[in-house]
Amino acid sequence: MTPSDVKATLSFSDGSPSIDLPLYKGSIGPDVIDIRKLYGQTGKFTYDPGFLSTASCQSTITYIDGDKGELLYRGYPIEQLATQCDFLDTCYLLLYGELPNEQKQKDFHKLVSEHTMVHEQMQFFLRGFRRDAHPMAVLTGLVGALSAFYHDSTDINNPTHRNIAAIRLIAKMPTLVAMAYKYGEGQPYVYPRNKLSYAGNFMRMMFATPCEDYEPNEVLVRAMDRIFILHADHEQNASTSTVRLCGSSGTNPFAAIAAGVACLWGPAHGGANEAALNMLEDIQRNGGIEKIGEFIKQVKDKNSSVKLMGFGHRVYKNYDPRAKLMRETCYEVLGALGLENDPLFKLAMALEKIALEDEYFVARKLYPNVDFYSGIVQRAIGIPVSLFTAIFALARTVGWIAQLNEMIGDPEYKIGRPRQLFVGSERRDVPPLHQR
Ligand code: CMC
Repeated sequence: MTPSDVKATLSFSDGSPSIDLPLYKGSIGPDVIDIRKLYGQTGKFTYDPGFLSTASCQSTITYIDGDKGELLYRGYPIEQLATQCDFLDTCYLLLYGELPNEQKQKDFHKLVSEHTMVHEQMQFFLRGFRRDAHPMAVLTGLVGALSAFYHDSTDINNPTHRNIAAIRLIAKMPTLVAMAYKYGEGQPYVYPRNKLSYAGNFMRMMFATPCEDYEPNEVLVRAMDRIFILHADHEQNASTSTVRLCGSSGTNPFAAIAAGVACLWGPAHGGANEAALNMLEDIQRNGGIEKIGEFIKQVKDKNSSVKLMGFGHRVYKNYDPRAKLMRETCYEVLGALGLENDPLFKLAMALEKIALEDEYFVARKLYPNVDFYSGIVQRAIGIPVSLFTAIFALARTVGWIAQLNEMIGDPEYKIGRPRQLFVGSERRDVPPLHQR
């Protein structure tokens, strides 16, 4: 962190002495005011529910300019990574800070592919779930359970353990997600095939059966790889902050990532792609394009809790750059499958057009986010809606683990312990039962 010459002065209208607070400059983005000594000097906390103005850490991994609609991984624009690199290059970049050269790329691909199988016992653990369990419920359990299977990579303070855990998580997530899917379908698990690409292997584990192998379709494999790249990291979002907070207690990496999976499940975060597609299907069932006006009216009604899922973002107040790339992929995939006239896609395009022109959305800077399109792409590929968030978790695992490792290596890292403004009852005595 680079200290700034400027200081912030905090003064109080009740005559309490004012204090100077140091400022730090980032390489890009807003400066931060260092309030760490605020409580010691004034006896006061700051109040910022939802972290609207609070930087919880320093980071070198991902940068978002929400007003410009820019997303950089380690300085590289997402548009260049999505078109010139594959997901494993992106993983290497996020984990180690630089893109791999040819040799490092080869070594990294080999290393990841050597860890794709999961302990055979995992399938018996999986069998404890109901067949109709939501894949995110299953995945939260499976990822947490990895700490019971891989004891030699659970010490978060040991850099070798952290690196092996990172590789294991990246390598095994596709296997676990595919197992969760096959289990729900009542089909046998398909073991990984290491000579395939990361995305190709995942699709084979999803769609092959013992009686019929999966023939990879290059357009669909590339689309899946792009979904992974676009979801790989997104700085200090809710699930990443959860992983950091969870890991700050010194818990093992598998447990911290399981916490991230659980957080991602919510419809305001990773569950939005599932919610967006369910919303489109609902509108389609209730009259389709004709009924969009009515639906938008409900969205704008302050007394209804209906939201346009796949629209809006805490940070992007411009078009989400991932949405632009996903929109492109959407056209490519639907074209390759001959689904350009898919009614759900047409409905989505009509909804997007109306929302982009409607004063309610314009005034609030609500643009489509990545989830608006990724659901349509995944559905076209043949992935069931209930698996969308699990695929997001698969892709985000590298971001979570890179952020967790960065935190552990940061000399300023401490156990996360937010404070509170207490507004409950003051001290009182427990009345006897007959007086309550
Ligand atoms: N539909 C209708 N109104 C909306 C929407 C929406 N999708 N999003 C925000 N608004 C309104 C909101 O009601 C509020 O209006 P008002 O000022 O009149 O009270 C205003 O816009 C500001 O909203 P906010 O809730 O303060 O915004 P936020 O930054 O706290 O919330 C969000 C961001 C993503 C939770 C929210 O936009 C949302 O719920 N969107 C739908 C779910 C979704 O698509 N989430 C995926 C996010 S991208 C994936 C990821 O990175 O995890």
